[in-house]
Amino acid sequence: MSLLAIDAPGIEWRGARVLVRADLNVPLEDGSITDDARIRASLDTIRDLLRKGAAVAVCSHLGRPKGERRPELSLAPCAERLGQLLTRRVELLPDCVGPEVRARVEALKPGEIVMLENLRFHAEEEANDPAFAASLAAGFTHYVNDAFGAAHRAHASTEGVAHLLPSRAGLLMAREVRVLGGLLGAPRPPFVAVLGGSKVSDKLPLIESLLEKCDRVLIGGAMCFTFLAAMGDPVGTSLHEGPKAQEMARKLQRTAVRYNCLLQLPGDILIADRFDASAELQVVASDGIPDGWMGVDIGPGTSSTYREVIEQAGTVFWNGPMGAFEIPPFADGTRAVAEAMAACPGATVAGGGDSGAALAAFGLADRLTHVSTGGGASLEMMEGRVLPGVAALPQG
Ligand code: 3PG
Repeated sequence: MSLLAIDAPGIEWRGARVLVRADLNVPLEDGSITDDARIRASLDTIRDLLRKGAAVAVCSHLGRPKGERRPELSLAPCAERLGQLLTRRVELLPDCVGPEVRARVEALKPGEIVMLENLRFHAEEEANDPAFAASLAAGFTHYVNDAFGAAHRAHASTEGVAHLLPSRAGLLMAREVRVLGGLLGAPRPPFVAVLGGSKVSDKLPLIESLLEKCDRVLIGGAMCFTFLAAMGDPVGTSLHEGPKAQEMARKLQRTAVRYNCLLQLPGDILIADRFDASAELQVVASDGIPDGWMGVDIGPGTSSTYREVIEQAGTVFWNGPMGAFEIPPFADGTRAVAEAMAACPGATVAGGGDSGAALAAFGLADRLTHVSTGGGASLEMMEGRVLPGVAALPQG
């Protein structure tokens, strides 16, 4: 699918007043932004529109205030950070709808930028309420959706408003859809997926979809213990799911055979006597985890096998860490995957928040073809689902 983006011909941006939906849902600690990657990712679109002579009002959600005005979820820190990155002041308006906002929007001059307050202070946003969408559109001449991370939500600002104003995809949105869509379309073989994270049950549709498309799926993270338990192997105190998820895991093994995909589990595991950086550690075969010990990372043998497979892939998609990488002694497997992705000459794409965080922590994020800004959105897209925020935008 190819979205019509802001760089496509057909719209005169000079003098336009553009509502830009970004995903500025950044992590905050005590009111400070701990990772501004999503704000940086929105810069290209904002800069391009301003350069073209449009006036821009950026809107976003932050957290899940569920229709309540919660001061700690104000977009003020995001407006300040965006201002620093653009080296100009970005005024935060007191709300996202209402007569005061509308008057300010109508008075915007070419090249001017403001930010609207958190969309989710209004319950109508998540309800995709048509009247709310109309208030949001009021005063604007165009709508640009650059919020790929929220494209799996059919909300007023991601879906409803696209039907009310001439609309375009932002540059980030267009790139995300092009790259992730390309993985589903015609990936260069061998196509390898690396999947980690804690639960098989959370990622069932994703794994099923990837088994159909990939030549190999490499499993790591806590989800591997559900697979191992499903095969009757002892998993000690490792995080793992119960009988229902284990049945799913067995079904996935059969699905892999049907699609001629190699579903690969770790051959060795790093185990710890407790979940702590100072824990005692051992490497054991994956079918030999002793009682009272927990798996915290893939083992070194598995790391080097996975590294080799990834480096030789034509296309790699990675979602989810291989172990509890936030604790340094448990980070080697995740680091090996990140380094192999960086070294792979093929197309390398990471999707999902934790893989992006791991790449950033290892300083390797800019060595991949693409690191998606979407968590749930990238997973739903890779499951082959239609994202409402994408479907509402015009295609070229
Ligand atoms: C995300 O962080 O994945 C997006 O911003 C969507 O947020 P939500 O899950 O609260 O809708």
